[in-house]
Amino acid sequence: MTGDMTGMTGDMTRMTGDMTGKTGDMTGGGPGGLRARFDGMWAELGRTGRDAAGGYSRLAWSAADARMRQWFRSEAAARGMAVEQDGNGNLWAWWGGPCGGAVATGSHLDSVPNGGAFDGPLGVVSAFLAVDELRAGARSPRRPVAVVCFSDEEGARFGVACMGSRLTCGALAPDAARALVDAGGTTLAEAMRQAGADPGRLGPDPERLAGLSAFIELHIEQGRALVDLGATVGLATAIWPHGRWRCSFRGEANHAGTTLLPDRRDPMLAFAVVAIEARRAAEQYGARATFAKVGVQPNATNAIAARVDAWLDARAPDEEALHQVVAGVSDAAGRAAAAHGVDFHLSQESFTGTVVFDGDLRARLAEALGGAPELPTAAGHDAGILAAHVPAAMLFVRNATGVSHSPAESATVDDCLAGVRALARVLDALACW
Ligand code: GLV
Ligand code: MN
Ligand code: MN
Repeated sequence: MTGDMTGMTGDMTRMTGDMTGKTGDMTGGGPGGLRARFDGMWAELGRTGRDAAGGYSRLAWSAADARMRQWFRSEAAARGMAVEQDGNGNLWAWWGGPCGGAVATGSHLDSVPNGGAFDGPLGVVSAFLAVDELRAGARSPRRPVAVVCFSDEEGARFGVACMGSRLTCGALAPDAARALVDAGGTTLAEAMRQAGADPGRLGPDPERLAGLSAFIELHIEQGRALVDLGATVGLATAIWPHGRWRCSFRGEANHAGTTLLPDRRDPMLAFAVVAIEARRAAEQYGARATFAKVGVQPNATNAIAARVDAWLDARAPDEEALHQVVAGVSDAAGRAAAAHGVDFHLSQESFTGTVVFDGDLRARLAEALGGAPELPTAAGHDAGILAAHVPAAMLFVRNATGVSHSPAESATVDDCLAGVRALARVLDALACW
């Protein structure tokens, strides 16, 4: 990590635009105004978890994650908001409360390896700044407002996405979570202990969920829909069903030069067939299917692989199409494995069914925002997990490049500030007199 943000895509210093929007609160452009505070918070985050490849690697329970958590605590303290870390590692900063009927807003601070600056942090920064906007406008909450940072949303280290929200909602068994292992063989339980957290506290938190009247997640859009629509902020309607499946192929290690072709049991060949089949199946069903993470043993140039583990990320407009894609991949894998004399095993590592966001809440947001476009997404979010228990909604902020999970992810400061103001209007409508 370096402290230098120069040249990064998420670098706010290259972003321009006059902020001549609504004033009368703290939205002005002067010192202490919304823009200056946004820039300050963003610059500080920009120094945390930066990786050598020009993006951010803030994996759950890592040193970078600890610094992000510390940043959250400092921002809450600066606002006099009490902070708690719940048993699942999620952070909650309270304006009023905690007590019943709270409106929670936030996102996550972890990232994929070499991720962008905005996926997650934009929602947390915007949540704190939206609270500032309400306070500056002398708005009084009739309900408590919580700024929340969910733990391990990306699942980049232990394989299961939305870990903190899944555990809270009882959608992941704590014993199964504790036993998850990262690429270095460290269990989640060990990683939490090393970070000073108690894995014994993992588990469902129905009381916390019952204390929430709504959860609003602001997030950078992870595609180009808002660019194409010429809109700054959009509202989510739904999340495609999606999941992760591990495909394990076991063959036989042998010499790459001396082993005759008919004598080989090469798992890489079976995997190669399946990678192509995933693309074909995705095209057939209007879905998405991706192999982007592969583990090879022994991973030597001159030894035929003994084992290939490849992770399928699949998403589709409906659950039947998703099922067909995964079944197609699985069938092709079985055939390819038989043809190459290797064993094949498929295991589901996570699954999220179709999420349709609460219609009444969405209507209230649409009213507060005065007609933002509404769009579905194929990206997963903690709001999608919470939606089964709490009315949930999402605001998307325009992504200038349309790229995400990459350092090329980008949003202008003007669009980010429009997102903050939109979130403040929504919180005002939901939580204030
Ligand atoms: C999270 O960003 C996901 O959709 O994988
Ligand atoms: Mn993400
Ligand atoms: Mn995200």
